[in-house]
Amino acid sequence: MLENAKKIIDKAYQNKYALCQFNINNLEWTRYILEECQQNNAPVILGVSNGAAKYMGGFHTVSSLVSSLIKDLRITIPVILHYDHGDSLENCQKAIDAGFTSVMIDASQYEIDKNIAITKSVVDYAQPKVIVEAEVGHIGGEEDDVIADIYYAKVDDAIRLTKEANIDLLAPALGNVHGLYKGEPKLNFTRMKEINDKIEIPLVLHGGTGIYDQQIKKAINLGISKININTELQIAWSKAVRVFLEKNPKVYDPRKIIQAGEAAIKECVREKLILTGSANQA
Ligand code: 13P
Repeated sequence: MLENAKKIIDKAYQNKYALCQFNINNLEWTRYILEECQQNNAPVILGVSNGAAKYMGGFHTVSSLVSSLIKDLRITIPVILHYDHGDSLENCQKAIDAGFTSVMIDASQYEIDKNIAITKSVVDYAQPKVIVEAEVGHIGGEEDDVIADIYYAKVDDAIRLTKEANIDLLAPALGNVHGLYKGEPKLNFTRMKEINDKIEIPLVLHGGTGIYDQQIKKAINLGISKININTELQIAWSKAVRVFLEKNPKVYDPRKIIQAGEAAIKECVREKLILTGSANQA
């Protein structure tokens, strides 16, 4: 069921495991992720970017889709429906009004005072029913076809944003990027520890694709309680679908084509649930 997100995320933070945020793109992805998380008894966060929300028809469509699948598939694990990289108060309000239980306001492209002010306006609207994640520094890489540079989070800014805007989760930019890494991911763990020691709220690691397993484990020990994974599932799904189409050039039933990626998505989801320790935490 769509549950109180704060309780679920705080439990992860206190017990040193991380919830996985898997980004969804359509009905099938949502179903595969929900089924696999149910199978592994893991609470889950379904992430929806602006691009994905638009692609699926809008916030109401996504919210109804998720609630209906939870009902029809008899999903009993906690599910958080999260607006990923919300770009304005107005859009965050729309997501909340449509039934999302968690929103991210990403005002990280602005200087810190403006970031705090925008974030605070979302917090005022969202809490206590809906939790709010904010970004400090700027996470680089590619998402929804936009390419951005990295700006490392400053500890003082992280403290200010957390305290002054009273957010529930903080996503600091620490060398993590959206999409694929060029070479080895280089995360600033010293800064992560400093931020975690000073602010004591759950931290979020964006750009989960391509970060090494040992780095993920280390990050969880330093307060990371939510890990966002998107590209890895897209790659797994498209690879499997390509192989299927090459072997079956005469198939045209879209259900068969889309479904060719089901096992690949589920395998990827299962691996992450085990790695992050969220399996069996529902
Ligand atoms: P990846 O696409 O790199 O996994 O990042 C996902 C993400 O951080 C969504 O906010």
